[in-house]
Amino acid sequence: MPGQPISFARGAPAPELIPAAELAECAYAVAQRDGPRVFSYGPGGGYGPLREWVAERHGVDPGRVVLTVGGLLGFVLYVGEALARRPGRVLVEGPTYDRPLKILAREGAEIVVLPMDAEGLDPEVLEAELRRRPEPPSFLYTIPTFQNPSGRTLSGERRERLVEVAAAHGLSVLEDDPYGLVRYEGEPPASLHGLEGGELVTYTSSFSKTVAPGLRTGYFVLPEAEARAFEERAVSTYIAPPFLAQATIAEFISRGQFEPNLEHVCGELRARRDAMLEALGGSFPPSASWNRPEGGYFVWLDLGEGENASEFAARAEAEGVALVRGEDFFPRGSGLGVSSARLAFSYETPERIAEGIERLASLL
Ligand SMILES: Cc1ncc(COP(=O)(O)O)c(C=O)c1O
Repeated sequence: MPGQPISFARGAPAPELIPAAELAECAYAVAQRDGPRVFSYGPGGGYGPLREWVAERHGVDPGRVVLTVGGLLGFVLYVGEALARRPGRVLVEGPTYDRPLKILAREGAEIVVLPMDAEGLDPEVLEAELRRRPEPPSFLYTIPTFQNPSGRTLSGERRERLVEVAAAHGLSVLEDDPYGLVRYEGEPPASLHGLEGGELVTYTSSFSKTVAPGLRTGYFVLPEAEARAFEERAVSTYIAPPFLAQATIAEFISRGQFEPNLEHVCGELRARRDAMLEALGGSFPPSASWNRPEGGYFVWLDLGEGENASEFAARAEAEGVALVRGEDFFPRGSGLGVSSARLAFSYETPERIAEGIERLASLL
């Protein structure tokens, strides 16, 4: 197959969606202006002005915000704290983001998968699990908006019910929301954090999808009682985060570039999503099905009963198209997700997306 493989596997922004020139100017300006601070050790919770910006958006004291080295390393810190505070099983959605599954397995957590439907996690399934085993879980990990990998979004009604169930059972919840702002249409539902008030729900997001992933800047908005221990864990893990990256984002925001950039990114991603949906609709057989996310990076494809997405992915690779099989988003050996696959439309141009989907369709 000539040329570069077409990647529906990379849950990353295409290089042309990264505002590199503007960020370079911001980085230079903050290094010039605030060099001694950004090139030193500093508070483990991160660069003050950016912490304050996040705190204001979430209506909390800046002391409850910790800027982490990407959202994912923050997840490692969160898991360490949560399991130390309350050992036990960790509830996750099925399917869910594969890296946290690996981290949880490595940390020795018992992982309990709660099946989802097209509307996301079902709070009644959650409640049934909490009743079935009364000893409290360590926490629930959920990605309620434009979920990785399924692209699904939890409805407003379910969010309210989920918060009710969590409150009734004293369940800690980690709401992971890196895609929430990457919405191209429709009204955003309230966050679990906002609905609950932030006593049980910890909110995490990242600038990876809204600005640039290479800046490695994520953030956690923690319950008051947990913020200090979380920050101390960050300090004992890496002393302090890279302030130049965080100060660059703060500068990008203060120059008024955050919102226009996000609008641009959303417009580009909408075109990519539309290209993927149109190509799927035009070439895939009726036995296959997929969803239509209003934002984010992913479409969840089901090839139909009896189909094996691992074999499909291997044949796709030979045709120069990469995707991630559904099984990878469930705990190893669970036997779930066999006929499904995640298709990321964030990385390729609309033209290459159409070409890639045609090639996939020719395999069916
Ligand atoms: C659901 C989810 N959480 C967290 C992350 C981690 O992002 P980062 O470490 O780049 O902030 C990702 C990245 O793709 C993700 O999809």
